[in-house]
Amino acid sequence: MPVATQAAIKGLTPQQVEALGINLILNNTYHLNLRPGIEVLNEAGGAHKFQGWRHNLLTDSGGFQLVSLNKFTQITEEGALFESPFDGKPTMLTPEESISIQHAIGADIIMQLDDVVSSLTVGPRVGEAMWRTIRWLDRCIEHHEKSGRADRQNLFAIVQGGLDPDLRDMCLDEMIARKDRVAGYAIGGLSGGEEKDVFWRVIKQCADKLPADRPRYSMGIGFAEDLLVCVALGVDMADCVFPTRTARFGVALTFKGPLNLRLKKHEGDFSPIDAACPCPTCSGGTSRAALHHILTLETAGAHAVTQHNLVFQAQLMGRARDAIVQGSFPAYLKSFFATYFGDRG
Ligand code: GUN
Ligand code: ZN
Repeated sequence: MPVATQAAIKGLTPQQVEALGINLILNNTYHLNLRPGIEVLNEAGGAHKFQGWRHNLLTDSGGFQLVSLNKFTQITEEGALFESPFDGKPTMLTPEESISIQHAIGADIIMQLDDVVSSLTVGPRVGEAMWRTIRWLDRCIEHHEKSGRADRQNLFAIVQGGLDPDLRDMCLDEMIARKDRVAGYAIGGLSGGEEKDVFWRVIKQCADKLPADRPRYSMGIGFAEDLLVCVALGVDMADCVFPTRTARFGVALTFKGPLNLRLKKHEGDFSPIDAACPCPTCSGGTSRAALHHILTLETAGAHAVTQHNLVFQAQLMGRARDAIVQGSFPAYLKSFFATYFGDRG
C-alpha cells in the first residue's frame, strides 16, 4: 500500500495513482481528523469522495502517529491524551473515537487503536501496552459492531508484544480468540530499529499462528528485501512511506537495487531507470540524465521517480503473488536476491 497520509500520495494526483494500477492506499485517521476534519469529511460523503479515489482505502487508527509525532502524548486506560498541534489544548483520542472517525472517513479497512511502544522498549511497559491493546481491541469491536457499519468496513486487530516471544504469543492467543469479530490482523510494533533476525522471528511467530483465512498485514514495512521475506513467512499486505519518500530524495528502486539519480555518474546516461519498466517515466522515454538534471531544479523530477517507485513496488508484490499461485515462489525469491544485491549497471 502506498501511503497517502494527508489524503494524497505526495506528488501525485489520485488519477495518476489510479493510472498506475494501484487499488489500495492508506490514509491516516490522526491527520484527517485534524484537517480537513470530520465535518468536512461527512459533508463530502467520506474520504473516498473527498479525495476523488475510486478504489480501496485503509486508515491507520492514529495511535502510532500520536506517539511518533507528538512527544507530549500520554497513554491512559481511557485513550491517548495529546496536545492539539493547533491550539495546544489537551485532546483525548479514545478507541471509540478512533473508530467513529474512521467511520466518517469510510475506509474499506479500519484499524483498532493500539498502544504502541518502540520496538527498542524493554521492561514492564511492553506487556502493559500489549494487554491494553487487547482491552482497546474489545472496545473497538463493541463500538464498531453497534454502529451498524461492520458489514461495510473491515476492522483489523493489531498484534503487539514487542520483541518478547511470550508476550507476542499471549497477544496472538487473545486476538485469535476474537477471530469471528475481526476481518484481519496486523503485526505492529516493528520496524523501529530492531535487528533484522529479531524482526524476522516476530513476523514468523505471528504469521505461523494467525488464522489462514484472515489477511496478515505487516505495518510500516517497505524495503523490497523485507517485503519478500515477510511474504515468504506468510504476510499478505504491507504499507510504508519508503518508496515515495526515497523518490523525493532522488532514489529510484529497481530490481538491481536502489539507484541514486542525484549522483554525478547519471549526468550523461540517456537510458531510462529500467528499460523493462512499464511505468510512465520509463516507458515514456525520460532518461536518467534528464531526471538527474530536473531532480534538483523542479518538483516534476520527484513526481516522475515517485510514479516509477510505486510501479516497482506493485510489480515486486504482484510477481510474488503470481509466483505463489504458480507454485514458483522459491525460484522468484532466489532470482530476486541474486540480482537485487548485484551490479547496479
Ligand atoms: N505503523 C507502523 N507500526 C504500527 C503499529 O504498531 N501500530 C499502528 N497503529 N500503526 C503502525
Ligand atoms: Zn519505471
